[in-house]
Amino acid sequence: MAADLFLGIDVGTSGVKVLLVDSNGRVVDQQDESYPLLEPRPLWAEQDPEAWWRATARALKKVSERQPLNKRLAAVGLAGQMHGSVFLDGRDRMVRPALLWCDQRTGAEAAEIETAVGPEKLRRITGNPLFTGFTAPKVRWLQKHEPDNYRRTARLFLPKDYIRYRLTGIAASEVTDNSGTGFFDIRKRNWSAEITAAAGVPDRWLPPVLESPAIAGKVSPTAAGRTGLPAGCPVAAGAGDQAASGVGNGVVRPGVVSATLGTSGVVFAYSDRLRRDPAGRIHTMCHAVPGAWHLMGVTLAAGGALRWYRDTFCPAEKAEAQRKQTDPYEIMTAAAGRVPAGAGGLIFLPYLNGERTPHANPLARAVFFGATSRHTRDYFTRAVLEGVTFALRDSLEMMKGLKLPVREVRLSGGGARSRLWCQMQADNFQVVCRRTVNPDTTALGAAILAACGSGTFASVADGCAGMVRTGRVFQPDPAVEKRYKKAYLLFDSLYPALADSFDRAAEIEL
Ligand code: XUL
Repeated sequence: MAADLFLGIDVGTSGVKVLLVDSNGRVVDQQDESYPLLEPRPLWAEQDPEAWWRATARALKKVSERQPLNKRLAAVGLAGQMHGSVFLDGRDRMVRPALLWCDQRTGAEAAEIETAVGPEKLRRITGNPLFTGFTAPKVRWLQKHEPDNYRRTARLFLPKDYIRYRLTGIAASEVTDNSGTGFFDIRKRNWSAEITAAAGVPDRWLPPVLESPAIAGKVSPTAAGRTGLPAGCPVAAGAGDQAASGVGNGVVRPGVVSATLGTSGVVFAYSDRLRRDPAGRIHTMCHAVPGAWHLMGVTLAAGGALRWYRDTFCPAEKAEAQRKQTDPYEIMTAAAGRVPAGAGGLIFLPYLNGERTPHANPLARAVFFGATSRHTRDYFTRAVLEGVTFALRDSLEMMKGLKLPVREVRLSGGGARSRLWCQMQADNFQVVCRRTVNPDTTALGAAILAACGSGTFASVADGCAGMVRTGRVFQPDPAVEKRYKKAYLLFDSLYPALADSFDRAAEIEL
């Protein structure tokens, strides 16, 4: 039988997912393995890259024991959590645990690099302001706070590129993940010598740069022994988790956008020319489609806000769900569906952990606004769903403001299981919305890039046409949007009115 299967590996924050699919995108097998998140001090978030590799090898081994990979595996693709820093010494030993995307210790270092380069210039080259979680300030932090470790460092990898190094022995990187380092020139699609110098990143640390579908190397005999993968199997460059998920949602041509409701909410759009938000509110990065870019807005608490609300205010729904052997979210969303759009003027700002897009303010806080004695709990539930939807709409409206065409939105993530939430998005976005069938869009995206790299498809767009499947369609209702519009405008007026109050709340926090 011909080699007709593709493996996507997603090196995530809570664990790794290995997904084996065929050239129609049908799932043949999958395996998850988890690893711990280390939080040795407040604001610190670290992981042991060896633990990623052990978990990845374990997952691959299990899949290879169940499936005839030797005969049928055509290629492997990689995706992973972005921004993390893997520091290796000259003998490929770990210098220290990796600092992760959600590590918040490097605020001062990010500001220092921004000042050294100039904020305008930095944004022009990298496409974004320098966020604390990006890689550049992590390097400067190492230089300042652990100078011995800094001196010992010989290589710097992003998480999935370290896994590639273990799989193939080849040091390589690619444009999408590199866009989240803070020292990558997104127009030239290469490292920026000026910013690496300012951040203290020696050129010799950095792997060569490829486009995402390119084949970066082959599974080494040693890794084959450890994982059960066939030695010599091609490994594609792959992508950072967001760009890979964009591919897994089919966001690879103008007009197609995705909205993903996971713990956080992400609006992700394809752009065939370099568009930047002059105010830096939404991210611009290189896309996994060679020569293209993507725009991205992130609302930090999306599904996470509903989970918090459920756990804090809905013990009755949880008990009822247990009795009826169903999911509490089913009960909550059914009740919210009986409340009119706009939740009777009750507005929820979902900024439970600060906000990234559009406010970039770690001190922003969640708010219920406009409650009256007539509002029951179901109104509050609806307000939470609507507040998260309005936060996504903020990103979409900004993209439209940058003249980005929006003709169709792909819905995915745990929140897309709710029909009410999907319809709410269609009514607010005022374009047709389609639910993506495969929920693991990131690992699927990595597998699609592998299929393109191995020559099964001529382009990433062809790969998506063959492997991404969409299901239920949600048509927007203009009459309902009219009602939402008033609530949305009110939502948007609240953050500026409260910005100072958030600073004061932080002073009296727990
Ligand atoms: C992207 C981002 C997250 C991480 C972890 O900017 O911070 O998607 O990659 O998943």
